[in-house]
Parts: sequence; C-alpha cells; structure tokens
Amino acid sequence: MIVGNARDAERILRYVKDKKKETDECVTRNFIGPVRRVKMPEGWELVGRGSFRIAYLSPDRVIYKVQHTYDYEYGQNNYGEFENIVCIFQSRKTMPGVRFPKFTLYELSGQPVMAMEFVKGVFPETYICYDTCNCQRFSGKCNYETLTEIRETFDLFDLHDRNVMFVPEQGEWVIIDVGA
Ligand SMILES: Nc1ncnc2c1ncn2[C@@H]1O[C@H](COP(=O)(O)OP(=O)(O)OP(=O)(O)O)[C@@H](O)[C@H]1O
Ligand SMILES: [Mg+2]
Ligand SMILES: [Zn+2]
Repeated sequence: MIVGNARDAERILRYVKDKKKETDECVTRNFIGPVRRVKMPEGWELVGRGSFRIAYLSPDRVIYKVQHTYDYEYGQNNYGEFENIVCIFQSRKTMPGVRFPKFTLYELSGQPVMAMEFVKGVFPETYICYDTCNCQRFSGKCNYETLTEIRETFDLFDLHDRNVMFVPEQGEWVIIDVGA
C-alpha cells in the first residue's frame, strides 16, 4: 500500500527549503531576528525533530520526514531508513508485538522524502530502569528490556526511546525511526 503522495512530499520539501533559504538570507544580512515570511503550508503540523530529520504531519494525517540537509551524505538519512526497512523485511526477522509502520519513499530531483504512517502512541520512559524497573511496563515487562530486545533482534543500534512507540489500543510496539 502506498503511503502519502508525491505532491505533498514535494510541498513540504519546498517549504523546508524556502524556510532555510529565508533564514540563511537573514543571517547574511545581519537581521536581528528572523523575519517570518515563509509560512508552513495550511493544515500541516511539525510533530517531531530528530538529529537528522524533521517529521511533519500533513492534512491527510501522513508523516513526511524531511532531512535537515541534502547537501551531502549526512548521517542517518531517508535512503538509509528505506534500505534498512527493506533489509529487515527481506530477512524475515520478526518479534511478537512489534511492527514497522507503512512507508513510501518519494524521490524528488534526487532528494528523498520519507512518507510514513502516522503512529499515535506513547514513548516509553526507559532511563528510569537502570537499576530497578520503574517504568510503565507497557507490554508486561520492563520497557528497557523490550527496547534492548528490539534493538538486538533487528540490529537497530540507534533505537532510543524516541524512536519507538507503544500503541495502547493495539497493544503493539511500532518502530518509527529505522534510520540506523
Ligand atoms: N511515523 C511517525 N509517527 C509519529 N511521530 C513520528 C513518526 N516518525 C517520526 N515521528 C516524530 O518525529 C521525531 C523525529 O523523527 P525521526 O526519529 O525519524 O528523526 P531522526 O532525525 O532520524 O531521529 P534521531 O535523532 O533519532 O536520529 C520522532 O522522534 C517522533 O517524535
Ligand atoms: Mg529518531
Ligand atoms: Zn522498566
């Protein structure tokens, strides 16, 4: 199933670029504060920011991940995430109660934008479980242990507690960042 559409991927990529261009111009002209002329397209929302990408929610409730930069190969990008998900599917590795979101990669003039199913879940708090477990134990056991197991099962070294969500209605974990 295809997630999102090229027009929306293009729209949000355009926005991010125009915004960046505006900010750069402000910096070179030594403006005191950013002059906000470039507006987020109507009905869109910024839902999350990572070290490499920003996630926007479209009016159709689809996530679009735009990279902070397309200037050079930089860390965990959208191609990397695409390759990782495909490799994991091909490897047929699975873990009960854990799934990957539906996704579609759009390539616009050689620049990838990742469209992904919007996951409405809760992030686990795992930093409170180093000595004894103090977490919400979403699926019956310590979330820290669950994350460790997910990380090892799928070889995802960057699986921190903002890269995976628990969806209570489905009783399922969903890995939302498969970048590394
Ligand atoms: N499918 C999704 N559904 C809901 N929220 C999402 C989804 N994908 C990303 N987000 C939100 O956007 C944030 C940044 O996205 P993501 O983790 O993919 O970026 P990243 O730059 O690769 O992150 P990192 O810093 O972990 O490398 C996430 O932490 C999360 O809050
Ligand atoms: Mg992330
Ligand atoms: Zn715990």
